Amino acid sequence: MNKPFSLEVGAPVASEEDLAKPLTYPTEAFLSKDYAEAEKKLLWPKVWQMACRLEEIPEVGNFITYEIGDDSIIVVRSAPDEIKAFHNVCPHRGRRLIDTPCEQNGACGTKRRFVCGFHGWAFDLEGKNVYILDPQDWKGALTEGRTGLSEVQVDHWGGWVFINMDPNCVPLREFLEPAASILDAFQFEKMRYKWRQWVIYPANWKTALEAFMEPYHVSGTHSQLLKYGQFYAYSKSYGLHGVSGFDERDASMKMSQSSTVTRAGLGGDPRVSTYELARENYTTVNYAASTETLVNAASRLVDELPEGTSPGDVVKHWLASAKADDAKRGVIWPEISAENMAEAGLAWHVFPNMSLLQGATFALCYRARPYGDDPDKCIFESYAIERFPEGEVPRTEWVHAEATAEKWGSVLAQDFANMEWVQKGMKSRGFRGTLPNPHQEQKITNFHRNLAQYMGMGGPRLLD
Ligand code: FES
Ligand SMILES: [Fe+2]
Repeated sequence: MNKPFSLEVGAPVASEEDLAKPLTYPTEAFLSKDYAEAEKKLLWPKVWQMACRLEEIPEVGNFITYEIGDDSIIVVRSAPDEIKAFHNVCPHRGRRLIDTPCEQNGACGTKRRFVCGFHGWAFDLEGKNVYILDPQDWKGALTEGRTGLSEVQVDHWGGWVFINMDPNCVPLREFLEPAASILDAFQFEKMRYKWRQWVIYPANWKTALEAFMEPYHVSGTHSQLLKYGQFYAYSKSYGLHGVSGFDERDASMKMSQSSTVTRAGLGGDPRVSTYELARENYTTVNYAASTETLVNAASRLVDELPEGTSPGDVVKHWLASAKADDAKRGVIWPEISAENMAEAGLAWHVFPNMSLLQGATFALCYRARPYGDDPDKCIFESYAIERFPEGEVPRTEWVHAEATAEKWGSVLAQDFANMEWVQKGMKSRGFRGTLPNPHQEQKITNFHRNLAQYMGMGGPRLLD
């Protein structure tokens, strides 16, 4: 059952400076059919969103379709150095040009021409009409502007191809800032898919995405990890986007490495705990959020370092030896300054629907989108990218995988085991409203603050 759509349009929204204060945000954004319908007009046609990675369309003619709401976009490599994007619709009588059955996660393939299945109109990779049966019947009315495909803005950053349906949108780089400048040094464009999976999941796309936006849930959800590390986190807005990282409850304990995924674990001997934390993360997060090189280098710490080495020195040695191991197999680490690494933190939310947790040679990423018109369902995707030696990039494709530990690893399965119950729980008559953590869940309140800028309603407000 949907709650009635009761958001006050134009209601005051907490400012970015207010995000550290106790706030609440309404739940209509997750539950209401009307809100989901409004997203199709006010959000999705206005924002840059990740459609694919460049590696999915390496050759001229390679294309994918990206489905969002009622829209489907064709992204095609039209020339060796050129990507184009078009609305997936034939200008004759509106047939979808490429079929996109909903049991698939979009379509992909290779074409020199897009030919409409209905009356055979055809289009080249530039979107120009190259065939119409009996054009003389229109008596000269068929101009190029009427018969070509409708173009969509497209650009790429970090190896990700983004589209925007708004012809007057800001450039991609401007939209991504300051996240892009903080994350440039990671050179995500040099990483390639390690695996990629998707599922139709019974929760709103925001409920699903938010499950991966804060480490505040680690103690309650992934309690097995507490044996290996502390998961107290900071969370911070950067305009449209947000970042979280590990923090110390006691500010005097802050370590320079503590904001990233590569840090010493808990316990008396950091040589042992660093390995245990890295191994546990890697093996239970579906062989992502770290690399085999890092885990192997961590496993040697006990042999390579004397007892009593400080946690800071253990992490330093670990990273240096992993870097050297990678160099031997042809994987060169990017140069990232300590300040840049600290500012980049642990994990980003890139507005509106992308999340990534990054390291020097890897990233674990999420994307969530609405599924049809149902606010209780989404297309949820997760994928790992990594730097591989030349010639050793694995072949991957989007694999449909049920939301189980067997398919996604035990940690993601624990997250899945919350998401649908958050979706259901928020509908309770007894739910008094959200109480996000002002220090550890700012990424989420910032998300709602930004959503409200597009939607004109539903932003966070100060708790009275
Ligand atoms: S609808 Fe495409 S050719 Fe008629
Ligand atoms: Fe989690």
